[in-house]
Order: sequence, then structure tokens, then C-alpha cells
Amino acid sequence: MLIRRETLEEFPPIYDLVKVAFQTAKVTNGKEQDFVDQLRSSGNYIPELALGAEEKGKLIGHIMLTKTYIINGSNKFEILLLAPISVALEYRNKGVGSNLIKESFQLAKEMGYKSVILVGDPAYYHRFGFKTTVDFGIKNINNIPDEYVMVCQLVPDGLHGISGTIAL
Ligand SMILES: CC(C)(COP(=O)(O)OP(=O)(O)OC[C@H]1O[C@@H](n2cnc3c(N)ncnc32)[C@H](O)[C@@H]1OP(=O)(O)O)[C@@H](O)C(=O)NCCC(=O)NCCS
Repeated sequence: MLIRRETLEEFPPIYDLVKVAFQTAKVTNGKEQDFVDQLRSSGNYIPELALGAEEKGKLIGHIMLTKTYIINGSNKFEILLLAPISVALEYRNKGVGSNLIKESFQLAKEMGYKSVILVGDPAYYHRFGFKTTVDFGIKNINNIPDEYVMVCQLVPDGLHGISGTIAL
């Protein structure tokens, strides 16, 4: 399996991959594929952290880490958002998702990022070190149940001095 940056030519296949992958997601709004497009055209897109997984030339997975912010009064802390992550159905449970997460986190760390936030299933994300954000004094302002909003510190004390609210 090869994990590398997404390319312009594969934006349409990525759209399809995300759309189909989320048809089996526990929670979905059916628009995650459009969210990918929105993130790319936002100022929060980080090309180095939008990755595709391929096997024998076939796109089998995709992940995006983009910039988002925790607000505390007049302070604004930059943090990464993991969303979405998608693995093709026939390649599930083979470690593709785990490899996409680990590889993107390594790259993010090398770029100087210190933590990653997401909305997702704790049963999947705890294994990567994600913990609920409320434990760190970070609240979401969208009424998402606390246990689904999680953060992973890429370095020790990656959230030092950071608390506030986040719009997800
Ligand atoms: C979630 C997803 C990316 C995982 O990809 P994957 O390549 O199958 O994952 P991995 O092979 O790295 O890990 C598989 C393990 O995670 C578990 N797992 C996968 N999805 C899970 C979920 N939603 N909840 C709990 N556990 C989950 C599997 O049971 C397996 O467990 P095991 O290692 O104990 O056997 C993939 O299932 C997917 O694309 N789902 C649809 C889109 C989606 O839900 N995205 C995440 C939104 S939060």
C-alpha cells in the first residue's frame, strides 16, 4: 500500500470514494464528499495533509487534515481537523484507515502541528490516542454529544495552554 498526497486528477474518484464509503458510516449527512470539495477551496486546506492510499494503482482510501480553530475570548488557537477519512469497502479491516491516520499524523508532526481534533466513533479512535475534548477544556458549540468530539495530541502537552470552544 502506498500513501501519498492526493492529486488534482483524482479529485473525481476521491469524490466517489468518499460518497460510497459514507453510505456505510454509522453517522452521515450524505454530504461528506461535498465537504471535501469545500475544504479544498477553503483557506484551511493543507495539500501536504490530504492523502490518498493506493494499491496496485487503485485508489483505496483517503484522509484530510485541515486547519480549524479553538476560540477563547480574543485568543484563536490553530489546530488540525481530521475529516473525512474513507476506505473503499472491499479494503476495510486491513489497516488502510490506520495507516492513513498514522502517516498523516507523522507528516503533521513534522510540519509542527501539535494536535488533531475530530468528530467520530470513540470505539475506532481511542486506539490512536484520541480522548474527549472536554477533558482538555474544549467544548463544541454544535451540541454534538461530548464523547464524539475527540482530540489527539501529536506531541506531549500538545494542548498546553489551549482551551475554549470549537465550531465543528
Ligand atoms: C472508519 C474506516 C475509515 C476504517 O477504515 P479501515 O481501513 O477499515 O480501518 P482499519 O483496518 O485501520 O481498522 C479496522 C478496525 O477498526 C474497527 N472499526 C472500523 N470502523 C469502526 C467504527 N466505525 N467503529 C468502531 N470500530 C471500527 C474494525 O472493527 C477493526 O477493528 P479490529 O482492529 O479490532 O479488528 C472505514 O470503515 C470507513 O471508511 N468507514 C466509512 C466512513 C467513515 O465512517 N469514516 C469515519 C467517520 S468518523
